[in-house]
Amino acid sequence: MSPFHLTRILPEDAMAAALRADVRGGLTADPKTLPPKWFYDAHGSELFERITALPEYYPTRAEREILADRSGEIAAALPARTLVELGSGSSEKTRYLIDALTSLRTYVPVDVSDSALRQAGQALVAERPGLDVHALIADFTSDLTLPDTPGPRLLAFLGGTVGNLLPAERAEFLARVRALLSPGDALLLGTDLVKDENVLVRAYDDAAGVTARFNKNVLAVVNRELGADFEPEAFEHVALWDPAEEWIEMRLRSRTAQTVKVPALDLAVDFAAGEELRTEVSAKFREERVAAELAAAGLDLAHWWTDRQTRFALSLSTVR
Ligand SMILES: C[S@@+](CC[C@H](N)C(=O)[O-])C[C@H]1O[C@@H](n2cnc3c(N)ncnc32)[C@H](O)[C@@H]1O
Repeated sequence: MSPFHLTRILPEDAMAAALRADVRGGLTADPKTLPPKWFYDAHGSELFERITALPEYYPTRAEREILADRSGEIAAALPARTLVELGSGSSEKTRYLIDALTSLRTYVPVDVSDSALRQAGQALVAERPGLDVHALIADFTSDLTLPDTPGPRLLAFLGGTVGNLLPAERAEFLARVRALLSPGDALLLGTDLVKDENVLVRAYDDAAGVTARFNKNVLAVVNRELGADFEPEAFEHVALWDPAEEWIEMRLRSRTAQTVKVPALDLAVDFAAGEELRTEVSAKFREERVAAELAAAGLDLAHWWTDRQTRFALSLSTVR
């Protein structure tokens, strides 16, 4: 077996059908929405990597600090032979875990972004001889079948990406994750924490405008894939904190009254001046909520680590 495998679980036609369904459903809803997974074509994945290096975007640095400090403890708690990572992106922070897990044989990065998986996977096999990388192009919100590799398995979901799921979606997702794990396996979950509103909003509305470009990239994806005529400049990037839900929302606000055509769907979408399209929620957590949501899915919170400024948390939970 070659050390780098790429398997497309999500066939291209199924992905195209899912985009069509999401765009039709989302742009005809009130309020209008689009799911965040469509940000991540090759350009979107590249923009996300640029976001992770922005001075305002603390989550990546905070999570990296925890991984740098705690990967030894994580590996001692769960000496995994297989590491599965959902929404792995560049797998950049994952290297701390890979290096600490001395029994690790197989790394299974799972992402919708073909380009991110190829770049990360090829770099990893070159850097870590002896490590099998079995990348899966898949949607982590649908049923996943993992390759048959030896346990114990550590399933990592980093970056606070779990916060992009709405509460009901999160409950369903965590139950699905639980079903992928066997006794002796564990979930390593990264969650961004509730904090000062200004810090949160700045993280999603940086001075250099990279997050605004990332947000508008979803319009470019819909234009390219479905022949739509969105003009990104006709929309304004908006990030706001919802204190009741304890989540950040990213939206695109129409600067004028306009009609956008989506020929592949035979759809014309009217936007009023000032009307907003929600493109992402990013929930922020407290320890009690993480523990309760894990427990509801049949997972027991065993460890809770934060960075030194308590901005971000990593939790390790075991199968009940
Ligand atoms: C916020 S980024 C985090 C990337 C990386 N884990 C990190 O911590 O920097 C979210 C990642 O999840 C992927 N992603 C988003 N929605 C997904 C879905 N439904 N299924 C699979 N991957 C998804 C994106 O392509 C992206 O790589």
